[in-house]
Amino acid sequence: MCGIVGYIGNKSVVDILVNGLSQLEYRGYDSAGVAVQTSSKIKVYKAEGKLENLSSVLMQHKSEFADSTMGIGHIRWATHGAPNVINAHPHTCNCGNLVIVHNGIIENYKELKVKLEAKGAKFRSQTDTEAVAHLIAYKYEETKDLTEAVRLATQELDGAYALCVMHNNEKNKLIATKRNAPLLVGVGEDEYYVASDVPAIIPYTKKAMYLNDNQIVELSRSEMKLFNSNGEPIPQKVEILPWEPVALSKMGYKHFMLKEIHEQPDVIRNILVGKLHSADSQITLDEVKLDKQTLKDLNRIQIIACGTSLHAAMIGKYIIENFCGIAVDVEASSEYIYRKTVTDKHTLVIGVSQSGETADTLTAIKQAKARGSHILIITNRPDSAMAREADSLVPVNAGIEVSVAATKSYIAQLVSFYLLALYMAEIKGSLDESVLKSLKSELTLVPQKIEQILSHKEDIQKCAQHYANTKDFIYVARGINFPTALEGALKLKEISYINATGYPAGELKHGPIAMLDESMPVLSILMKGSVYEKLLSNSEEAKARNARMIALTNSTSEKLKELFEFIIEVPDIQELLSPLIAMVPLQLIAYYIAEYLGKDVDQPRNLAKSVTVE
Ligand code: AGP
Ligand code: GLU
Repeated sequence: MCGIVGYIGNKSVVDILVNGLSQLEYRGYDSAGVAVQTSSKIKVYKAEGKLENLSSVLMQHKSEFADSTMGIGHIRWATHGAPNVINAHPHTCNCGNLVIVHNGIIENYKELKVKLEAKGAKFRSQTDTEAVAHLIAYKYEETKDLTEAVRLATQELDGAYALCVMHNNEKNKLIATKRNAPLLVGVGEDEYYVASDVPAIIPYTKKAMYLNDNQIVELSRSEMKLFNSNGEPIPQKVEILPWEPVALSKMGYKHFMLKEIHEQPDVIRNILVGKLHSADSQITLDEVKLDKQTLKDLNRIQIIACGTSLHAAMIGKYIIENFCGIAVDVEASSEYIYRKTVTDKHTLVIGVSQSGETADTLTAIKQAKARGSHILIITNRPDSAMAREADSLVPVNAGIEVSVAATKSYIAQLVSFYLLALYMAEIKGSLDESVLKSLKSELTLVPQKIEQILSHKEDIQKCAQHYANTKDFIYVARGINFPTALEGALKLKEISYINATGYPAGELKHGPIAMLDESMPVLSILMKGSVYEKLLSNSEEAKARNARMIALTNSTSEKLKELFEFIIEVPDIQELLSPLIAMVPLQLIAYYIAEYLGKDVDQPRNLAKSVTVE
């Protein structure tokens, strides 16, 4: 996480840095800071908390940097050291001549700190980053060459970093480098931009160069030079970004999350266009580059993801196994990467990620790729690091998601999994023709069914407010909707900080039932189908322990009224497609509880939208 920006050119730098950081706020909001080269020396301004706090600080010092045209900026998601002003970036060396901003984690910072302190470095912060500032400063004293100093210093770093560096003695030089963290350079007329992500530079230029690991770029106002890790000049690959600047607006909604929940019907329609033509014709999925015979022969798939994307992956497993009869393993990326993983060239590996930048998933994908697996990436960011690793790239096209809590990107990932599973089933001939037809025709009806739910959202709001003051919340389901229970609980945890957990309902009796009493809300995701009666019995068991029972259901059975104190009805849908419908009220419940409690819905504490540290 963390967002980095840098600029060298002839425009007023502070506006560019602050605008850029505002586009990167999804990456963290623990603190913000900038360093600018003024006519006398580099000046640093920092503030704890959101960017608006930094903007107030900058307002008070406006006259100090009116002519500044070069600087670096940072928005922090703290990994080492509390989120306060001292730990805010930019960090400096003893004399303040050198300033850096950093995204990532320096794993050997403690060893470096001991060595640097022995040389006289005075550490002020608790961050890992400060060690890098002192280290580069010492290398600069030795070499008097900032690019070389950065190169030598990075050779001593373990871990991940994107860095942007300036020095008081180099009034026309900005250095940037990276390893396992994103960074790109925007190319303008006699000016260059550095940023963690495209939105920070796209209002200014569409020409950009993505840095590869261990490359170092040296920027002056007139020129860009690129070097490899040996310090040798290498060719530059500048490309035109397929992006337009977009003005992100809440369109009258109170929060981006609510707006994004409402966008879901159109997101689904957009994905289906050109892929699902009619119930009678075959799915088109040209993005899948595996040849048909390999697809037919495939007998193992691994899906790797984190957080909400992991829940989409779990549903992906369910439907691929059901539709195609192929064994699927799903694993959290962070667990996948530090064990002996059995993946080879006969395994299809699917990475799922909204951002396409999640460090754990990216590492997992690279490992699987090195073992020869075909890599299929499902992402909302076709220009991301993960997309660049893909053999097959399936973009989900949900549009920019601003709210840290993922909603529309989750539904879009699910729809992509449905298309993929149906596509593979058609090639393999593994599903009955009539089942295929009914799935395809009902998939096209999902957007209007979600619209029906959204048109009755006041009932869900009432239910949410009724339970808003609870400390704990349990979600139960069975079968294909167990991941829906996990995702419902994650949404509530993330934005309301209520201790919510999802369980497979059959597991309640093996332990969690001990927690039930008259204060515990238990929400059953009771969709008609193979496990309906079983789940009903599990709900009875919970009710017998006096839990506050809530049903989310497409059943209109009168029986439910005795068992549940609240019933949220959703439109009818066949079981295999029900996760697409069941999730929407759960998103709304989480939203309305958090809103009722007055929480910061779009930017919940301690989280960031793009998690680029392991
Ligand atoms: C979603 O609400 C979360 N903020 C988080 O769990 C997220 O899904 C996770 O960090 C994975 O991100 P990705 O999809 O961008 O890889
Ligand atoms: N490790 C650095 C810090 O804690 C950067 C954090 C990050 O990139 O998320 O300040």
